[in-house]
Amino acid sequence: MVTMEEIHKAQRAEGPATILAIGTATPPTCVLQSTYPESYFRVTKSDHMKELKEKFRRMCDKSTIKTRYMYLTEEILKDKPNLCAHMAPSLDERQDIAIVEVPKLGAEAATHAIKEWGQPKSKITHLVVSSINGVDMPGADYHITKLLGLSPSVKRVMMYQQEAGGTALRLAKDFAENNKGARVLVVCSEIATGTFRGPGEMDPDSLIAQALFGDGAAAVIIGSDPFLDVEKPLFEIISASQTILPDSEGGIEGHLRQVGLIVHLRKDVPGLIAKHIEESLVEAFKPLGIVDWNSLFWIAHPGGPAFLDQIEEKLSLTPDKLRATRHVLSKYGNLSSACVLFILNEMRHTSANITGDDLEWGVLFGFGPGLTIDTVVLHNVSN
Ligand SMILES: CC(C)(COP(=O)(O)OP(=O)(O)OC[C@H]1O[C@@H](n2cnc3c(N)ncnc32)[C@H](O)[C@@H]1OP(=O)(O)O)[C@@H](O)C(=O)NCCC(=O)NCCS
Repeated sequence: MVTMEEIHKAQRAEGPATILAIGTATPPTCVLQSTYPESYFRVTKSDHMKELKEKFRRMCDKSTIKTRYMYLTEEILKDKPNLCAHMAPSLDERQDIAIVEVPKLGAEAATHAIKEWGQPKSKITHLVVSSINGVDMPGADYHITKLLGLSPSVKRVMMYQQEAGGTALRLAKDFAENNKGARVLVVCSEIATGTFRGPGEMDPDSLIAQALFGDGAAAVIIGSDPFLDVEKPLFEIISASQTILPDSEGGIEGHLRQVGLIVHLRKDVPGLIAKHIEESLVEAFKPLGIVDWNSLFWIAHPGGPAFLDQIEEKLSLTPDKLRATRHVLSKYGNLSSACVLFILNEMRHTSANITGDDLEWGVLFGFGPGLTIDTVVLHNVSN
């Protein structure tokens, strides 16, 4: 007769959760940041707000973003005056778009990840989905299950209104390590339908959102004890933790109202993150005996370039450390939860050669409302 302990042990995997494939997708329209102030003020019929337009131009210039992909094109927006107004009741219209498009883009990214993984999708046992937009019942997790033709018995979790790239990896790690044979599909899909709006004189926070947010989806497949004849491990997830920063109340907030998602950003958010980030690093890397942050490869959610500048300065990071992160910010903008997974995708191509070194250990930081920091320790096993 088997003991309870044996049953319990047999249900669990042996090795750490491992990232086995990554896929990304964007809407087709690519927008140039250099011309965006013109088109944004034109489509929102705000050209008369000359000072605000100049302020927005300064924000766009300072954003370090070169291009972004956007679902809401001028073509779509010209028939949606309530989305283009600063604060007009528009939640229904926003929902109508997000409820359809968030799962669609997520499913496209997932299809790329599944193709790279090369295994039948019937082997996916869990699905974790994150999106800021499109709160609905059933949620984007349900629609992605249907769009992909996953098993109806896939075990789903849906997270709305968090910038939850790091959180999604933490959940996937727990699922993969606690369920032998589990293969977890993580999908972060972001289409900024909630935050798009015309400029308002008294609302610089919203203007920052217009200057920074882009649309994109990323998917990863995670499982423990990979079958090395058919699966290719990329990164092991060694630990994943989360903490609320001290004195950060109101740092990043988003309130869903009739006018859409109203974002509030405290100006000292980049400074707060920089002030406390080393505490998270020390705690995460103590078990590995790592104290040199320049010995790691880095993935840090680029909420804005100020996040990266202040982290770099505070920790005396060499410029190559945040190069992949800055590259993704420059090419796609701030993709909320999907951003860290886009950087992860970039990193697997560059972690070994960015400095000419073969970097074994890395850190992934998610920064979200709260302020909340997710810290994920990664082990590069792709070579
Ligand atoms: C917005 C950002 C790109 C501007 O770059 P910068 O190097 O700080 O440039 P500046 O200080 O000249 O700021 C540009 C303008 O944005 C304004 N601004 C910057 N941060 C702001 C904030 N949090 N709230 C309101 N206005 C802000 C500045 O007052 C300035 O306006 P001005 O030109 O009329 O004086 C940068 O501050 C950034 O990355 N901030 C982080 C944004 C953030 O919190 N993102 C999280 C989104 S979830």
